[in-house]
Amino acid sequence: MKINDFKLERFFAKYEFTAPYLLCSSDCESFSIKEILDLEKGSEKELKKLWLGYTESQGNPKLKKEIAKLYKTIKPEEIIVFSGAEEGIFIFMNVLLKKGDNIIVQFPGYQSLYEIATSIGCEVTNWPMSDENNWELDIEFLKNNIKENTKAIIINFPHNPTGYLPSKEKLNQIIKLAKQKNIYIFSDEVYRLLEYNKNNTLPAIADCYDKAFSLGVMSKTFGLAGLRIGWIATKDKNLFKKIASFRDFTTICNSAPSEFLSIIALKHKEILIKRNFKIIKNNLNLLDNFFKRYDHLFEWVRPKAGSIAFPKIKFNKNVEDFCIDLVNKKGVLLLPSTVYDLNDKHFRIGFGRKNMAEALGKLEEYIKEHHK
Ligand SMILES: Cc1ncc(COP(=O)(O)O)c(C=O)c1O
Repeated sequence: MKINDFKLERFFAKYEFTAPYLLCSSDCESFSIKEILDLEKGSEKELKKLWLGYTESQGNPKLKKEIAKLYKTIKPEEIIVFSGAEEGIFIFMNVLLKKGDNIIVQFPGYQSLYEIATSIGCEVTNWPMSDENNWELDIEFLKNNIKENTKAIIINFPHNPTGYLPSKEKLNQIIKLAKQKNIYIFSDEVYRLLEYNKNNTLPAIADCYDKAFSLGVMSKTFGLAGLRIGWIATKDKNLFKKIASFRDFTTICNSAPSEFLSIIALKHKEILIKRNFKIIKNNLNLLDNFFKRYDHLFEWVRPKAGSIAFPKIKFNKNVEDFCIDLVNKKGVLLLPSTVYDLNDKHFRIGFGRKNMAEALGKLEEYIKEHHK
């Protein structure tokens, strides 16, 4: 298999563990093992006794039971747990797609949602999103671009990198079209439950359509990226079987301590979400204020959900040069749109971390020195 570089990961690889101020992280503030164990009495003793053998290849049954609670109709046996969401995307695409198949996928977007298909030899149709239109997706575009060889629609709500969240009506229109044309939907829902208005939370796609796949993870909403635990929920028994079988060639099964800690975290998910949501809300207030004060330099569409947004610079500079100069001079990391295969003026900003105010202060220092 030949695959292009994952541009975002390559950019992160250069700076993530050296830049002191990560102002573009997509995951929420993390927790320590102690903080997770403190959620449940007796769990420290249990962890010490944990057997470190191979684990059940589709995931610990207790974990699957907790994950199933995130859905309305999904049963534990309709869930397969992976080493992160990334493994789920990789396996799903490899199991479903063959050379010449078409997929329709939001653009810009998280690269693996289209790059794996490209590496297989698929025809990838970008479903365009633009800030001129508040990142809103056009259903007419989807209608006009479904073809004989279209195998799947790939969606990601809340969206990386824009924080876009469609209405329930729009999601229903997408599902209706997929049902009419008998095509699959793969829905990357890793930022689900981080909607600023809880009435806007979309139903999980796996609860809505038999040929749909919901992707979830511990990394983002729950702030536990280091556990590397993700999953797919689906009612499609046939593809489920193939996904489970392909998995024998990737990681075979999950890490036992990660599954153990994920079970506790999910049992107490409301506490984790509440803590992370509070950080996001505080940070969003700071960003609202910042972008108002510097509206001659930046423009942004306020996100509706999640921990990231995709503002743009208005000044006359290449955005990648701006990001690199900023990290070199002030140690503040932003992600230029070039890592999203876009050659424009957008950059990704992340606001799920506790030290965002400090990082934003450093960005402001840079602006005052360079853009008087
Ligand atoms: C939209 C989206 N999907 C999937 C992933 C992969 O998640 P993980 O790294 O936890 O496997 C990410 C991570 O940034 C993401 O933003």
